Amino acid sequence: MITLKEIKEGKARLLIPDPSTYSKDGKFDPSWAPIFYNPRMVLNRDISVVITKLAKVRRALDAFTASGVRGIRYALEGGVEEVSFNDRNVEALQLAQKNAELNQVKGKFLNLDARAAMLEGKYDFIDVDPFGTPAPFLVDSTWAIKRNGILGITATDLTALEGAAPKACRRKYGALNEGLTPSKEVGLRILVGSLIKSAAIAERTIEPLLCYYSDHYIRLFVKVISGAKRADGGLESLGCVAECPSCLYAVTSDQPIRTCPRCGGRMKVAGPLWLGRLNEPSLLGQILKEANSLELPSIGRIVSLMTKLEKEIVYIYRRLDKLSSIAHVSMPSRDKFYECLRGIGREVTATHFDQRGFKTNATYEEIISCLRSQS
Ligand SMILES: C[S@@+](CC[C@H](N)C(=O)[O-])C[C@H]1O[C@@H](n2cnc3c(N)ncnc32)[C@H](O)[C@@H]1O
Ligand SMILES: [Zn+2]
Repeated sequence: MITLKEIKEGKARLLIPDPSTYSKDGKFDPSWAPIFYNPRMVLNRDISVVITKLAKVRRALDAFTASGVRGIRYALEGGVEEVSFNDRNVEALQLAQKNAELNQVKGKFLNLDARAAMLEGKYDFIDVDPFGTPAPFLVDSTWAIKRNGILGITATDLTALEGAAPKACRRKYGALNEGLTPSKEVGLRILVGSLIKSAAIAERTIEPLLCYYSDHYIRLFVKVISGAKRADGGLESLGCVAECPSCLYAVTSDQPIRTCPRCGGRMKVAGPLWLGRLNEPSLLGQILKEANSLELPSIGRIVSLMTKLEKEIVYIYRRLDKLSSIAHVSMPSRDKFYECLRGIGREVTATHFDQRGFKTNATYEEIISCLRSQS
């Protein structure tokens, strides 16, 4: 018998495994309970609720449902008409069913491998929220979803994506990743690139709607569009990023650049990865507006994230701390450094990826010169 406890998240009442029963030495990790529920993922779920509402999703598949929290919230708060709940763990599915009843949410309950569940119906939203890597589910989710449908994908296997485990990155995402300083954005862009390669098999491709990095996960919302030509276009927009570990010169290109044009050192390379925009600019303001009207539990964090994303430009971020050390200067005040770059007509913004990062269209020489002029 699983000991349960009732909680509230958004408008949902939920029975979840009682953390006090499953903690060890006063500590608790959600993976120690027989059914998974992580309160720290509320931002991820809140934003997903907003997306289902804004996209007017009718049929959603919560493919990795566990307690049922997502599907229930999509029905109660996201206005989704038909929710299918799936989990291969039968105890989890039973709990999801119990929780759905508690909230008077009707739905279909499937006890299948997520890939089989995706192929069961024509969904206009599929939530892919597995443990660790979403890689095994990319082909089937892009294949099964309705034309112009939306995928919400979570990845927590950041050692592979960020390049700390390069062999795993190659196996799971077919990408080389030698560990560059903007590792968080590189990881996210490798995941988007891998999704584009997966979708291309079904003569489809994806358009990023909202892609972000938070806590210890990456979350993507993408629209899946059909057509062989579009699929080709998606593949052609993949490229590489190279960074010289000695002088931190960095460059994006179609093919890997191995030799640093500045110092002749061997560049570290990551790719193939997506080099285009990560968000649909008009959507960010709409998310803010909708999130406010829905009274979501993590509204403060949503406002902070969307405000940062609205300002971000497409260029892969650079690390202010690392570049200052290469330039042999102490880290300047951000305002003064930005003022210098803007003074020479360049764009510069902070980034949600990393507090130590910034994004700019300035050249390497301009960055170094602005760093030196501040010291
Ligand atoms: C990270 S938890 C999901 C958490 C949930 N979406 C939430 O927001 O609270 C992953 C769930 O997926 C289930 N699962 C893992 N692999 C699966 C697979 N291949 N097919 C179906 N379910 C799977 C696990 O039993 C687990 O309940
Ligand atoms: Zn160099």
